[in-house]
Amino acid sequence: MDPSVNKKIIDGNSIARSILQNLVQEIAKFKPLQPGLTFIRAGNDPPSVFYVNRKQKVAAEIGIRSAVHLFEEKVSERQLLQTIDKCNNDPSTNGILVQMPLPPHLNQQFILNSIHPHKDVDGFNAVNLGKLCKEDDSGFIPCTPAGIFELLKASNVKVEGAHIVILGRSLIVGKPLALLLCQNKPSANATVTLCHSKTHGLESILKSADIIVAAIGKALFLKGNMVKDNVVVIDVGITRVNDPAHPKGYSILGDVDFNQVIQHASKITPVPGGVGPMTITMLMKNTFQAFKNQLSLKS
Ligand code: GUN
Repeated sequence: MDPSVNKKIIDGNSIARSILQNLVQEIAKFKPLQPGLTFIRAGNDPPSVFYVNRKQKVAAEIGIRSAVHLFEEKVSERQLLQTIDKCNNDPSTNGILVQMPLPPHLNQQFILNSIHPHKDVDGFNAVNLGKLCKEDDSGFIPCTPAGIFELLKASNVKVEGAHIVILGRSLIVGKPLALLLCQNKPSANATVTLCHSKTHGLESILKSADIIVAAIGKALFLKGNMVKDNVVVIDVGITRVNDPAHPKGYSILGDVDFNQVIQHASKITPVPGGVGPMTITMLMKNTFQAFKNQLSLKS
């Protein structure tokens, strides 16, 4: 690859690796105690199966114990709530993660709010989202937004004063990321525009962006002619498309047309190898934090 192109790429794998290496050492200091993370997964959505396996693998590699409760697609809300209640009261579980999307008959908000805020390492509970909104640092920040924030920091991208356009207002990425980036702190202080499917004038908004975060789940949506020169682009998209030429039978596409946008961008994340590894890393960081918080509550 042309070295000038290579320099533009934000390598999420390597940034994640260095954070994880540090975590391994920090976690080892507590031996024989180990942080514990419990996953809850309902149904067999292939990406969810893949991501929970991946998260468990990384947890094992860095010294975090994990367990998973699997349920059928038609699981009742009561069953899930009972399991969450058990985990809330189990001292060996420091973090609880309900993998999303949940089957549509379940009330997602109700389930997420039933996780004890101290164990809500995904940060989707109303208490933790409220803390994020109020700039109270004692809560957990959702993993993908936290990972994007770390990627920008590690790549020396100046956030303060920048116009950051976020495509997508999801609970998992867009909304909490907007809250994080506009916090009144020197490391944040961005001007954030949160765009969605009903946004008017998207083209001119995108053209005025210093940083674009694409999180709408539309493969190759962002094209080269939609961005200004020197923009920083973070791609959160992960759409699977059938690809008989690929050994796995599918390939993963981002929301950004990488080959086009890299011609204009000063920095850009690839898919895979950009945001994905950071999301998992931030989950590990939150779980370790939950473990330490719970130990200090006991003593
Ligand atoms: N599904 C996609 N991303 C996430 C995530 O960060 N956490 C959970 N629980 N589910 C997801």
